Parts: sequence; structure tokens; C-alpha cells
Amino acid sequence: MKDGYWLVGFQYELTGKLYSLGRIPKCKSAMLKHVKPGDRVLVAGVGHGTEAIEASKLGAHVTAVDLSETMINQFRKRIAKENPPNEIRVINDDIFNIRETGQYDMVISNFFLNVFSESMVVEVANHLGTLIKPGGYFVAGEFVLPEKTGWRGIVQRLNWYFAISFYSLTTEAVFHPVWNYPALVEGSGCKIQEIEYFTICNVKLYWSILGKKG
Ligand SMILES: C[S@@+](CC[C@H](N)C(=O)[O-])C[C@H]1O[C@@H](n2cnc3c(N)ncnc32)[C@H](O)[C@@H]1O
Repeated sequence: MKDGYWLVGFQYELTGKLYSLGRIPKCKSAMLKHVKPGDRVLVAGVGHGTEAIEASKLGAHVTAVDLSETMINQFRKRIAKENPPNEIRVINDDIFNIRETGQYDMVISNFFLNVFSESMVVEVANHLGTLIKPGGYFVAGEFVLPEKTGWRGIVQRLNWYFAISFYSLTTEAVFHPVWNYPALVEGSGCKIQEIEYFTICNVKLYWSILGKKG
């Protein structure tokens, strides 16, 4: 199976935390306040799995999927270390092979949609939408869509292009502008309920978007 993160997967979590001065980990966990004990939660492209372990600690039954064996190995090490109460179902596979239609109370896509090209990202978002129960949630933690004018928009663009330049050279992530994530969540059949921003020096850099399936 393809492992697009074999070279840099080991450092992904720590670098994200340092690069964002702690904002990225906060962004990943922001919408877990909507998780109830017993909920079924799917984490797509789980990486090292910060939010998956936290969701399990909140009493959720978590399924975590990732294509990269390197990422899955890092995630398993964290599970062994943190020993969350509910066993986490770990799947090393392509998200398109998960076909549990309408099974999940929450599907989490943190910094996952941003690895795909323009033609793929819509398909991926729509696929994630199919996995959510009616009334369930779609969570997307991502880079903010840059403001069209002003210095904040420049900072937001630099923040994104610095990250995607590094990851498109070292992984299979595709180089592209920031996608309109709220539109992708809406397009998958979910209505936007809440957006939480994560800022540095008053510049919005990351957002956690909560959509609810009708
Ligand atoms: C940018 S990383 C984000 C990881 C994690 N969600 C985080 O926020 O730290 C994207 C992850 O998606 C995984 N991935 C990429 N394409 C995938 C696919 N088609 N199916 C499942 N996982 C995939 C990668 O292996 C990688 O771990």
C-alpha cells in the first residue's frame, strides 16, 4: 500500500504544534465538545491521532483510518502510551474503502482535505458526508481561506504556502491554493453550525468547521 508520509510522517505532530505555536492541536480537538459517550466517531487521515485518542477518552467508539503505515505506526505508539478507555479501531487503508454509509455520529477530517487536488477534494468531502448519520456532524479543521485584501490575507497565504511547499515536496500532498472548506462541508450535505478560529497576533490562521447533516 502507498505510504506518502514515509519520509516525514514521524515528525508530523510535533512540527505542526511548534509551527502553529500550539494552535493546530487546539484546532483538531475544538469540536470534540459535541461528542457524547457512546457516539461512533470516524477520524479520516488520522495521522498521529491527537483527537482520536481524546474522543475515546470522552467515551466515543472511535474508528481511525489512514493510508500511511508510518502514520498508523506513530498512532499505535500513542495509543499504547495513553491507553484510552475504549479500544480504537485502527484501519490502514484508503478512506474510499470505508463504505459504512450513515453509521457515524461524527466524521472528523483534520488537515486531511488539504492533501487533495481540486478534482479529488470534492469527491473526498462528499464521500465523508455519506458516512455521517442524519443529524450527525462533519468536522473539518483546516487552514483559513485567506482574506482577499489586506496584510492579514498575505500572512494567511504565506502560512499556507510555506506548509504546502514543504509537504508537497516531501509527501504526496498536492500543491494548490487554500480550498473553501465550509463550501466543501456544505456540498457534502451538511449545514454549517459553528466555526471556531485559531489566531496568532490577531490573524485567523486555522479554523474548525462544524457541519450538521440534515
Ligand atoms: C496532512 S496529514 C493530517 C494528519 C492528521 N489528521 C493531523 O491533523 O495531524 C493527512 C493524512 O491523511 C492521510 N491520507 C492521505 N490520503 C488518504 C486516503 N486516501 N485515505 C486515508 N488516508 C489518507 C495521510 O497518510 C496523512 O496521514
